[in-house]
Amino acid sequence: MATRSFLCVIFILLVAFQSTMLKANNVLPPPRCRPVLASTREMFEFALNLHIYKAVLYLGSSVGLGINDIAPGLVEGPAPIGVTVANLDNRTRRIVEESGLASVGHIRELANVTFQRTPLPMPQLDIRAQVIAKYYDVINVTLHPPYNIYDNTKSFLIVAIYSSYLLQQYYAGITPSIVGNREQELAAGITYYEAASYGVIRSLLKDMANTTVPPYTLTVGNFTNLTAQIGNRLGGCGVKDEGLTVPLPLGAEGRTTNNVIAADVNSLSYKRIEREFLRIVFISGDATKPGGLFPKGFVGTLYKRIAARKQS
Ligand SMILES: *[C@@H]1O[C@H](CO)[C@@H](O)[C@H](O)[C@H]1NC(C)=O
Ligand SMILES: *[C@@H]1O[C@H](CO)[C@@H](O)[C@H](O)[C@H]1NC(C)=O
Ligand SMILES: *[C@@H]1O[C@H](CO)[C@@H](O)[C@H](O)[C@H]1NC(C)=O
Ligand SMILES: *[C@@H]1O[C@H](CO)[C@@H](O)[C@H](O)[C@H]1NC(C)=O
Ligand SMILES: *[C@@H]1O[C@H](CO)[C@@H](O)[C@H](O)[C@H]1NC(C)=O
Ligand SMILES: *[C@@H]1O[C@H](CO)[C@@H](O)[C@H](O)[C@H]1NC(C)=O
Repeated sequence: MATRSFLCVIFILLVAFQSTMLKANNVLPPPRCRPVLASTREMFEFALNLHIYKAVLYLGSSVGLGINDIAPGLVEGPAPIGVTVANLDNRTRRIVEESGLASVGHIRELANVTFQRTPLPMPQLDIRAQVIAKYYDVINVTLHPPYNIYDNTKSFLIVAIYSSYLLQQYYAGITPSIVGNREQELAAGITYYEAASYGVIRSLLKDMANTTVPPYTLTVGNFTNLTAQIGNRLGGCGVKDEGLTVPLPLGAEGRTTNNVIAADVNSLSYKRIEREFLRIVFISGDATKPGGLFPKGFVGTLYKRIAARKQS
């Protein structure tokens, strides 16, 4: 018992410490951090929105193509707004293209396993640089000129990594609830891919951590701290993202400040629930207030139910 309460105190101190250190002390009341009940099909349908966002951003910014240019007739819906070929170095362009192509494979396999049909419906996407720049308003950071994701390799990777990170966190969260062998295999395969994709980009960012992001004086390390704060604040359910360097107590086993892979106290994946993703991609902090990257919300019945029940 003594040991237990002692551990409990340590845990509470650690949580308090984490919150202040990482400035995510705006945790919402617990019901807003609980998952909404959903079927396997609905969970995949929800994920499809994130997969499509990633494919559109990565293919559009690296080689100027869309999903149907790679797989004709796979998706159908409103043309995405604002995605632009980014000013990337060649190595990065190839990596981003590869990961974007992989997303097309993931979408096709989702269509095959879960929906048994194509085309799949596309949400309206708005990936204009000025939309992404709005993320910094969330923590009252004003940048001159406004942030332009497409401007250079660093400004692109700092933001683009979230496509993989959010997918990876989503699958980490739904994995225990997925019913069906093929469905479980598919989720495991996607989790593998997106975790690897996240690791590759974080490692590129870590190598550049001390270099400034043009045209600003802030470094890549500074920006990853800012984006982590933004995600934690919008998500509203605690610290689930971290910068590339953390205070020692938050590093793996409390023995390193190096933090290429963000992870919890046991170095396991942070998980996020569906409403946290909506709060983040809508840039509204409210799962029922579409905007930001998805001005008309998500496609699929899970999102419709969340909106109808006002589960913000
Ligand atoms: C990058 O790729 C382009 C097109 O393939 C090529 O023309 C250019 O020389 C490459 N740049 C570098 C620095 O390798
Ligand atoms: C769909 O899955 C089945 C079973 O795994 C496979 O045989 C088929 O080739 C797949 N179809 C497509 C279009 O990928
Ligand atoms: C940003 O500024 C607004 C208005 O002054 C304030 O209400 C809000 O708490 C600030 N947010 C942060 C993260 O400091
Ligand atoms: C960045 O700077 C820190 C502190 O000076 C140093 O410990 C670290 O090795 C540097 N990282 C890189 C990738 O150069
Ligand atoms: C990022 O934030 C962490 C935790 O607050 C801090 O230890 C680290 O020095 C910060 N790094 C930069 C580059 O601002
Ligand atoms: C940026 O990071 C450096 C360390 O690399 C730190 O000294 C500085 O305070 C950070 N600036 C901001 C605005 O976080």
